[in-house]
Amino acid sequence: MNLDVFTLFPQWFDWFREQRHVANALALGHSLDCIDPRASTPLNWGQVDDTPFGGGAGMVLRVDVMEAALRARYGADPVELRTTRRVIALTPGGRLLDDALAGELAQEPALTLLCGRYEGFDERILENFVSDEVSIGRYVLAGGELAAMVVLDAVLRKLPGVLGKDESAVEESFSQALEGGLEYPHYTRPAEWRGWTVPEVLLSGHHERIREWRREQSRRRSLP
Ligand SMILES: C[S@@+](CC[C@H](N)C(=O)[O-])C[C@H]1O[C@@H](n2cnc3c(N)ncnc32)[C@H](O)[C@@H]1O
Repeated sequence: MNLDVFTLFPQWFDWFREQRHVANALALGHSLDCIDPRASTPLNWGQVDDTPFGGGAGMVLRVDVMEAALRARYGADPVELRTTRRVIALTPGGRLLDDALAGELAQEPALTLLCGRYEGFDERILENFVSDEVSIGRYVLAGGELAAMVVLDAVLRKLPGVLGKDESAVEESFSQALEGGLEYPHYTRPAEWRGWTVPEVLLSGHHERIREWRREQSRRRSLP
């Protein structure tokens, strides 16, 4: 999978790239590139934003700057680009990220993520250059970088070979294996601590009973 993030703060992703599962993905041949719109801005002194028409606080990311950045990267009109590639703007009001969306995005060969800053995007960017708007929750962050990392994290861990063991992602909260429900509880050593014990069945070595107990726990936890 080819992942491009348009951000004014590419260095934020240095840490992200070093995390085990992201490093695994890169070693497997997936790519994660950060593109700074300042590098291709047609304006002087690296300008990328401007004051909002109509007044008000904050700065707005300019449509001409975003077009230049997308053209420089892909050599295509961004209006056309979004018909051949998922171009996702991170916005507080976008489609809420959930497991189904992460799974959908994990099927794509390539994704482009646009990180807003300050007051956000000129509306014409959202109307004309993007295929999706995605939100990681109904609250406002200072910028789209953390939101992009959340989306990438949820997507990357669904790719084969990225987690230490692929089974880890099969039977977990919201997965098909658990009928979309929550995961069952886990315990590890010691088997008893301050009188708090582990359910007997998990120590029994009886795989079928353990499977049934886990399914039942998952169903109970998932009740509305
Ligand atoms: C300070 S926010 C802009 C908020 C915008 N003025 C509003 O009220 O909706 C700056 C940028 O952070 C990103 N952002 C903030 N909260 C987000 C969220 N919950 N999900 C995804 N992106 C978010 C977006 O890229 C946004 O353009």
